[in-house]
Amino acid sequence: MKSAQIREAFLKYFEEQGHTRVASSSLVPGNDPTLLFTNAGMVQFKDTFLGQDSRPYVRATSSQRCVRAGGKHNDLENVGYTARHHTFFEMLGNFSFGDYFKREAIRFAWQFLTEVLQLPAERLWVTVHISDDEAADIWLKEVGVSADRFSRLDEDNFWQMGDTGPCGPSSEIFYDHGEDVPGGPPGSENDDLDRYIEIWNLVFMQFERSADGELHPLPKPSVDTGMGLERIAAVMQGVHSNYEIDLFQALLKAAGEVVGCTDTEEKSLRVIADHIRSCSFLIADGVMPSNEGRGFVLRRIIRRAVRHGHKLGHQEIFFHKLVAALVEQMGEAYPELREKQSIIEGALRKEEEQFAKTLDKGLALLDDALESLEGTEVPGELVFTLHDTYGFPTDLTQDIARERGLTLDMAGYEEAMNAQRERARAAGKFKQDYSGNIELEGTTEFLGYDNTDAAGKVLAIIKDGEQVDRLEEGESGAIVLDRTPFYAESGGQVGDSGYLQAGDTRFEVSDCTKLGGHHLHQGKLLAGSIALGDQVVAEVAGDVRQSTALNHSATHLLHAALRKVLGEHVTQKGSLVDSERLRFDFSHPEAVTAKQLRAIEALVNNQIRANTAVETEETDIETAKAKGAMALFGEKYGDTVRVLSMGERSDAGTFSVELCGGTHVARTGDIGLLRIVGESGIASGQRRIEAVTGAHALAMFDQAQQRLDHASALLKARPENLGDKVEQLLASNRKLEKELAQLKTRLASGAGGDLTSQAVEVDGVKVLAASIDGADPKSLRDLADQMKNKLGSGIVLLAAPGEEKVALIAAVTKDLTGRLAAGDLMRFAAGELGGKGGGRPDMAQGGGTDLQALPGVLKSVPEWVKSNIK
Ligand code: ALA
Repeated sequence: MKSAQIREAFLKYFEEQGHTRVASSSLVPGNDPTLLFTNAGMVQFKDTFLGQDSRPYVRATSSQRCVRAGGKHNDLENVGYTARHHTFFEMLGNFSFGDYFKREAIRFAWQFLTEVLQLPAERLWVTVHISDDEAADIWLKEVGVSADRFSRLDEDNFWQMGDTGPCGPSSEIFYDHGEDVPGGPPGSENDDLDRYIEIWNLVFMQFERSADGELHPLPKPSVDTGMGLERIAAVMQGVHSNYEIDLFQALLKAAGEVVGCTDTEEKSLRVIADHIRSCSFLIADGVMPSNEGRGFVLRRIIRRAVRHGHKLGHQEIFFHKLVAALVEQMGEAYPELREKQSIIEGALRKEEEQFAKTLDKGLALLDDALESLEGTEVPGELVFTLHDTYGFPTDLTQDIARERGLTLDMAGYEEAMNAQRERARAAGKFKQDYSGNIELEGTTEFLGYDNTDAAGKVLAIIKDGEQVDRLEEGESGAIVLDRTPFYAESGGQVGDSGYLQAGDTRFEVSDCTKLGGHHLHQGKLLAGSIALGDQVVAEVAGDVRQSTALNHSATHLLHAALRKVLGEHVTQKGSLVDSERLRFDFSHPEAVTAKQLRAIEALVNNQIRANTAVETEETDIETAKAKGAMALFGEKYGDTVRVLSMGERSDAGTFSVELCGGTHVARTGDIGLLRIVGESGIASGQRRIEAVTGAHALAMFDQAQQRLDHASALLKARPENLGDKVEQLLASNRKLEKELAQLKTRLASGAGGDLTSQAVEVDGVKVLAASIDGADPKSLRDLADQMKNKLGSGIVLLAAPGEEKVALIAAVTKDLTGRLAAGDLMRFAAGELGGKGGGRPDMAQGGGTDLQALPGVLKSVPEWVKSNIK
């Protein structure tokens, strides 16, 4: 049975048992930052198990793409070393959400294996959790599994998706690959070898593990099972290793062709064939190589694959060439793979190119160090240098070390890493402001979401980096209030400006920044004095604030639109929002095309015109994530977060949902209009978009219109015909230029007839020095040649005066070059005209700027020849 047939047989069997067939979800778990990658079929059903999400069915079946590389379930290090571990695999599963439980789960599994797949019972081995008498009874008494092929285990029979989340005791079914393969049955000493291979895990979901490690019962006992497609395919195809199944044979063959290796049992080739699957699917699901989180894991896998290609003696960039073979194998079952093929190839190629630059050097460094290594441990300092300077993730170094029977000094590595962090921190200290000297109690209460003016009390005054009691007229400093409507710079939004006032006192706030929990109103006291304890009225410059709000809200819409048009891999890398414009930096591997920019702009403007209310809500991070708020992976959030929802609501959720502390418009229509004014690259894999909104965007259109009107008036054409008109003009211009050049030459050569008559004799040598108005350098050269021909023997200097410069050509017939070089004549003439020139003995070019001197110079040429000719 081919892998595809097994996949289909499984899903069909469970459909017949009343299960709904559900498509595989993305490898990036939706809104679950606790989980690096989708690592099991149950991930998309997590909330359903927890009772937080209800579905129109209580039984489901799926074939789920999974990645186990990093996080709780990590098989990366084993890939290539065993017959059955992969970074990417497909998990077949059936699920019950509070419907059936142990008995049915066990019966279904047994029936599918022994009746549908017709596997002999004596090849199977079953385990249950040590405490699970119920499951043991069902297997032994009801199903009739032999007690000789049954064991009860502890930790191995308890499954949980991560450190937190749904979990429960499990029952596993193993396949015995036969006596020829080394290894013992589950629970025995050698059970980690390849003879008994787990093929199906039935998890009886009963608990949720919370962050404190406690187990809480689920609302309803449920079932989650998982069977690795590659493993069962190996069984069905009568092979022992997963790499021998149909799916992998094709990939191994393709990989072998690309790197020039015919041995499909070669470990490195297997690593490459495994890794192309995880890398391609991860990129298809929006992950891009980077230095953090998911992107870093992807980078590690790619680099590991590249290194193994290298190990096989292949020096060129190759990994991306395998995508086509993968698409051929799996594109049918996963159309997204086919759709994203070129993006995947591009991203892989780029990463390979980047790594290739340092791979050789890093390997050489490692080889050198290993040669003189005493003992079997690679020093931590070296592991760190390889990581830091040569881009070798530690597990890559580990992989190399393992091949040579060495281990890594990870403690030393950590130490080197910490030392570097310390250095970076020390270097960063210079940037810190006076905050070290200032100690303030309490916090400033921020009133600015609802107000632009409010009264507050002066808590502290800072002048020249010190806390002072008062500020006098004309002095600059920072004022801290107990409450304020002034927004302090953060999250990319600049601080507010405005005034603090009381009676005659007027303090101009030019910026507002944060110091711990306090807002510092920075500026200058224009009139009066301010002392600790004073009551002041704080007034934000409302128009500036409103313009800033337009840009900030537009940034959220832009972010959402970017993800919709370019893909989910787009993540925010930084932003700057002020009253004039907005700037948004994000991850994306290539320039955004003009067409994409138009689509992005249109999406945002549609949302603006829909004019929906902007909603804010203060809540906890879990609720925020449940609403789909974009939270950054690995980011720590406070107890309460502010969720900002903006744009149209549909079944897929609200257009934009973000965690944000900034100030925003009330309705999207307030933004008026968004106009993208620039797109550029700022770092590898990072782009920047700049845009304007509201009145600024309108002003831009206005200016553009004025330019258009001006051009139309000049060209006497209607704006819609401008393009045609300009094209006509350009064409006619080209024609005229050509004609003009022809005319000039003709004119000059026509004049040439008369010119020779201007030649004078100097010691029997004909010397011609003349000025030709309007000739270009080329026609001047042609003319000089003609003069030489006409004179037969002689010396020529021609000048073409323009508006600011005069061009010169000097020519000497061959018979005379021994006596006088054209270059010398040129140096003389050009020098006299305040310029320079030079050339060959028979022809030289140059020019000068002293137009006034030209007639005199021309006149002096015969004289000069007389005294310089040999
Ligand atoms: N979720 C279970 C596993 O991954 C079935 O093994």
